[in-house]
Amino acid sequence: MPTPAISISIDRESEEPIYRQLIRQIQMQIESSELPAGTRLPASRTLAKRIDVSRISVVNAYAELRAEGYLSAHAGRGTFVSRDSSPAATTPISNGTMVENNNLPDQSLRDLMRLARRHGIVNFSHGSPPPEFFPVAMLRDALNTVLERDGATALTYEMAEGYPPLRAAVRDYVSALGIRTRADNVLITGGTQQALDLVIQALVAEGETIVTSNPTYLGMIDIARTRRIQIHGIPTDKDGIRLDCLEHYLMENTPRLIFVMPSFQNPTGHVMPLHRRRQLINLAETYNVPIVEDAIYHEFRYNGDAPPPLKALDDNDYVFHISGFTKMLLPGMRIGYVIAGGSQFERLVRVKQAADISTSGLNQRAIHLLLQRGVLSHHLERNNRELRRRRDAAIAAAEEHFPPGTTWNVPEGGLYLWAKLPQTGPTAAELFIAAIQNQVAFMIGNIFYLNGGGSYHMRLNFGLQTPERIEAGFRRLGRAWRNLACDYDEIEKAPLF
Ligand SMILES: Cc1ncc(COP(=O)(O)O)c(C=O)c1O
Repeated sequence: MPTPAISISIDRESEEPIYRQLIRQIQMQIESSELPAGTRLPASRTLAKRIDVSRISVVNAYAELRAEGYLSAHAGRGTFVSRDSSPAATTPISNGTMVENNNLPDQSLRDLMRLARRHGIVNFSHGSPPPEFFPVAMLRDALNTVLERDGATALTYEMAEGYPPLRAAVRDYVSALGIRTRADNVLITGGTQQALDLVIQALVAEGETIVTSNPTYLGMIDIARTRRIQIHGIPTDKDGIRLDCLEHYLMENTPRLIFVMPSFQNPTGHVMPLHRRRQLINLAETYNVPIVEDAIYHEFRYNGDAPPPLKALDDNDYVFHISGFTKMLLPGMRIGYVIAGGSQFERLVRVKQAADISTSGLNQRAIHLLLQRGVLSHHLERNNRELRRRRDAAIAAAEEHFPPGTTWNVPEGGLYLWAKLPQTGPTAAELFIAAIQNQVAFMIGNIFYLNGGGSYHMRLNFGLQTPERIEAGFRRLGRAWRNLACDYDEIEKAPLF
């Protein structure tokens, strides 16, 4: 009996992403028994070549079909239609591309990352600080104190600008970082993510462009998708966004904003040195484009001295400084802020009011009390000591377990290791799937890149795991890579139909 052949026809004009078209067509052929149980599917590279799509689309489609129980992978032999191809009870992955913005990374990768949430996985993929750092008992005490002290006042609508004592405390806090501002220029937001979204809403209209580093923060990409704005990515080097490329771009284009993370950039961990910070502000002034500085990791430093935030060097109000007490203290309390010059401030407040009226007054009061009680400085010191220990464990485990030829930065702060796999082996997306089967997860580098790139990069949040789990997780990752590298050769070489 001849081997049944998979038949795929891709509609390149369709709004349905290619990997979704693949999933739909393979599912249909399995359900109609055109592809009966036990049929071997072409290797991802072969199918991608045959139908002229990117290999990542096929890898992602196979991964999702495996997760849903339609396909199974057998080490060394290939990918097969499952014996029981009725889909497993898994959450369907949404069909999520919301805007046509061709330089944004494929949404299918975001969907794939959901597999990292499965129970029992050593998860290096989330951007969260470790929950064991959270000052839960102190928060409980602060909440009780606030409720006893302020009663119902703490539970009514707060002013859109924020709880005045917290605004003053933020002013004092940032002044210790060198930022001269007034409490009147501090807007309290629902986390740093909302701070970024509000600045973008205030300044950038649908179809207009933000320029940022490439790779960039995932939340920035999400805002671009949902607000239907364009993002242009500028290459980076070890000091952050490349200003020669940025200037070249600004000479010919008029973006509405420059978005940067000067301290411990997410995902690369780069720190922009002082001279580049000054040059960036000069560029912004010369070309009259404001900057959003995301400083959320600024205080996560465990080696060396910190250059000042851009806002501390900003004499002419070109910089919006955004940050929050989320990573530093409690992500779930959702307290962030924007520091903005007078002329923009009123517009930001109106956008904030339209977005959610105000940030929870109870949460603002509790965070204010924690700041007053000195919890933040104590925690930062202790957390950074522990993060440094975890960083050292991550570097030692990477040296021991990662495949030869893998390279990485040695971060001096932040939560992430940014590693690049050898290009002779599987991509990070392929490794991710094998890693999930080995109960370990990381962020696939592609996700952070505009216009492709990062196929061999992984972002690993070592901060989230204890040294023991880092060692175990990196060992599993190395093992998954080695198994895959062997299978990879065999699968790709095997004749198919
Ligand atoms: C660079 C960057 N900005 C903003 C955020 C969002 O932070 P928040 O929880 O304060 O909204 C994150 C979270 O991962 C981040 O990495």
